[in-house]
Order: sequence, then C-alpha cells, then structure tokens
Amino acid sequence: MTANDRHGSGRTAVGVLASGRGSNLLALLEAQDEGQLEAALRVVISDVPTAPALEHARRHGVEALHLPPGPFKTRLGEEEERAYVRAFRDRGVELVVLAGFMRVVHRPFFEAYRGRIINIHPSLLPSFPGLKAQRQALEHGVKVSGCTVHFVEEKVDAGPIIAQVPVAVLEGDTEETLSARILEEEHRLIVEAVNLVAGRRAWSRPA
Ligand code: GRF
Repeated sequence: MTANDRHGSGRTAVGVLASGRGSNLLALLEAQDEGQLEAALRVVISDVPTAPALEHARRHGVEALHLPPGPFKTRLGEEEERAYVRAFRDRGVELVVLAGFMRVVHRPFFEAYRGRIINIHPSLLPSFPGLKAQRQALEHGVKVSGCTVHFVEEKVDAGPIIAQVPVAVLEGDTEETLSARILEEEHRLIVEAVNLVAGRRAWSRPA
C-alpha cells in the first residue's frame, strides 16, 4: 500500500483540532493505518504546543501544527480562529473533527465549515453537556451514561447527534473508572462517526 493510498487520495480530507492527550486522535490514526478509515487525516492543529496529540500525529505521518489561540481561555481570538480556518482550507480540509479541543468554535469556523464540524463528548447527550460529564453522570446517579458524536452548532454540545454508545455505570464507579470505560467506547465511536459522515451516511440538517 503506498502512502498515497493509505492517506487516501479522493477521500474526504479531515482536519482534527485537539488540545491534549489525543487518545481519540490516536484511534483515528490507527484506524487510518489499518485501512479502516473512509477518510484521510490531513492535518492536526492544537492550541497547546506541548499537546501529546501533536506528537501522535507526527509519529503517524500526519502534519501537526500548533497555532496560537489568542487572548481568551475558552475560545479562540477572532483573528486566530481565522488563521485556524485558513490552515484547514489551504490543506483542502473538508471535515473538521473536534477531538478533545478545549475551546468553543465561533463564526469563522461556522462560515467555512457549518454542518461539517463534529465533536465527541463523554456522555449521552443531551444529558450532561459541558465539562466533567462523567462526574455529572455520577453525581446524578444515572445507571447508564456513554458517549456521543454530534455535529457542532453554536449552542455547546447540542447539535444533531450522529452516533452514541451507552456505557453502564457500575456500583463503586469513580470518575476515573467510569471515564476509562467510556473512553474505550469513544475510540470506536469516533472512527464510526467519521466513517458515517465521510461516507455520506450521516449529515447535518440544513442551517
Ligand atoms: C474525551 O473524553 C472527549 O470525549 C472529550 O475530551 C476528551 C478528549 O480525550 N471531548 P483525548 O484527548 O481524545 O484523549
């Protein structure tokens, strides 16, 4: 298999945004290496220069960029967000995957990629949006939580759902044990969801 086959000429070009550990990104990279991804990972951008996600990308032969996020904590600056969008557009990115990206995207991304941005979240949305979803699940005493991949819209963690997997909450679960079991399912779900969208088997409602 040539590098060109592996990285998929003619396949939907994917750009990933990741801020940290990058285990969901790694699941995508491994799926691509194994020929299980119906899309081509083109570039990974992080707002954090030391994010392990960048290292995962490089090790798997995918371009990895750190771009400065600007002055805010939970979002990108307007100019900075435009630079992120430009970097994706310059590389022909068609689908944007938020894989543990810790900033909310705004207008520049929606203008360029509305309906083509997806996010993975560690709960069964619409339950427990926002941070610490696994802790929220434990605090509410639910017996089932899980993970969701959804299209990104302006309201955080609220766009149309693409796919979900339930995970049982067990007696004695801590935030760590529940998070670990959900994460295992996330790694399968993110690959499935990218394949659904890239294969046009899932799409967003028109804006
Ligand atoms: C995952 O739990 C994902 O659902 C959430 O952030 C976490 C990222 O983990 N949005 P990783 O960086 O992919 O390991």
